[in-house]
Amino acid sequence: MVRKPRETFNSRMGMLLAMAGSAIGLGNIWRFPYMMGKNGGAAFILIYVIMLVVLCLPVMVSEYLIGRRGGSNPFSSFDRLAPGSKWRWIGFLAVLASACILSFYCVVGGWSVRYLAESLTLSFSDAQNDYVANFGTFISSPFKPLLYTLIFLGLTGLIIIFGVRKGIERMSKIMITVLFVIIVLVVIRALTLPGAFEGVRYMFVPDFSKVTAQTCISAMGQAFFSLSIGCGTILTYASYVSKEENILASSAWISFFDTVFALIAGLAIIPAVYAIAYMNGVAPDVSAGPGLVFITLPGVFSQMPLGNLAAILFFLALLLAAITSSISLMEVVVAFIIEEMHRSRTKAVLLSFVICGVVGVFCSLSFGPLSGFKLFGLSVFDFFDYITSNIMLPVGGVLLTVFAGWRLKRANYLDELTNGGKLKIPRWICLTIYYLVKCVAPIGIMLIFLNSFFS
Ligand code: TRP
Repeated sequence: MVRKPRETFNSRMGMLLAMAGSAIGLGNIWRFPYMMGKNGGAAFILIYVIMLVVLCLPVMVSEYLIGRRGGSNPFSSFDRLAPGSKWRWIGFLAVLASACILSFYCVVGGWSVRYLAESLTLSFSDAQNDYVANFGTFISSPFKPLLYTLIFLGLTGLIIIFGVRKGIERMSKIMITVLFVIIVLVVIRALTLPGAFEGVRYMFVPDFSKVTAQTCISAMGQAFFSLSIGCGTILTYASYVSKEENILASSAWISFFDTVFALIAGLAIIPAVYAIAYMNGVAPDVSAGPGLVFITLPGVFSQMPLGNLAAILFFLALLLAAITSSISLMEVVVAFIIEEMHRSRTKAVLLSFVICGVVGVFCSLSFGPLSGFKLFGLSVFDFFDYITSNIMLPVGGVLLTVFAGWRLKRANYLDELTNGGKLKIPRWICLTIYYLVKCVAPIGIMLIFLNSFFS
């Protein structure tokens, strides 16, 4: 078979920022703070970090390794490493999962486009606005949210058309850098409000009374989602990575950066909510769930000095973070279409846009005209969110680690970690990772998964 040379990332920094861009997203800014708010603040962070190191890092290392060694989209990567076996269908499932995630992700991405547009028209400077009604009316209207969803998906596709280096790598580099600068500005604004310190205390002084079995499940699901593991995203990006890169160091770096960013996003939100509640003499409510960012925060911005500027920066940050993640999701589907269905990049992007756009429209409508339509008792949006985060990602994680730990030979595994002995990584570290991948992670993930499923 004649193969065209595949594109690769241009530099190590570009590769790391693209992967970090995938990991850092709505999961960090929109989901992490409200999960933390619901699950006891610092106690949740602690459990999250344990899950991350023991269960998720092994999954990421395995995905990275399979992608780099396989050098192709998830379907063919598995096929090359285990020729002719059924394993390649796991790769196919990963592509499917990515398309499902993108389909509901682009709806929330669309909301962030709309909130950025609103903040630019200074509409978050009015403390009298009813932000609950504002959000409710917007997401349930039949037309506007669809438009924003498609704008968001269109922007994602536009970047991908330019390819791995000129599109994904270049835009991730720029966007993640800008994102970092502006979120730090928002944090400074939040922390200099009187009363903000109580929010910081809430984040860093653990309250173990709120920890239940459910907390562990939520923490694991959140870690999977936030790190972009379990559905071929890291695998696809890793297939564009040179054989010289250090898999362990890259995975550790990405996980670290992602976690730090989630904490920074928390610092931009929680202390501000506390400060404004303190100012109004009411109890702070950080357990508002998904509405925290789109309902509570606009209210908070409208009451703080320089609030509208903070709102513009915040929603710009949210959008940038969401786009660098959605491009990684779409690239999984696009790489599959290019390589398995032999289409050009542009056609592959169009096809992914149409598929995810159609499903996305249904997800969006499920907040309004289609709210009565249920799949297994869930709205379309919740259904896709649920089956991906709670089923496909953990199952994908188990299968990835089982493949890496049991199907690949141990010598090959260790060889990949040390780049054939070129990297001087102490042997005990490689072996620890190997056994985490082979035994601890699949069993641990399975137990938590089954527990959540049957409880
Ligand atoms: N990690 C991203 C976030 O935190 C979302 C994301 C991108 C993702 N690729 C993924 C989630 C793959 C699960 C699987 O917003």
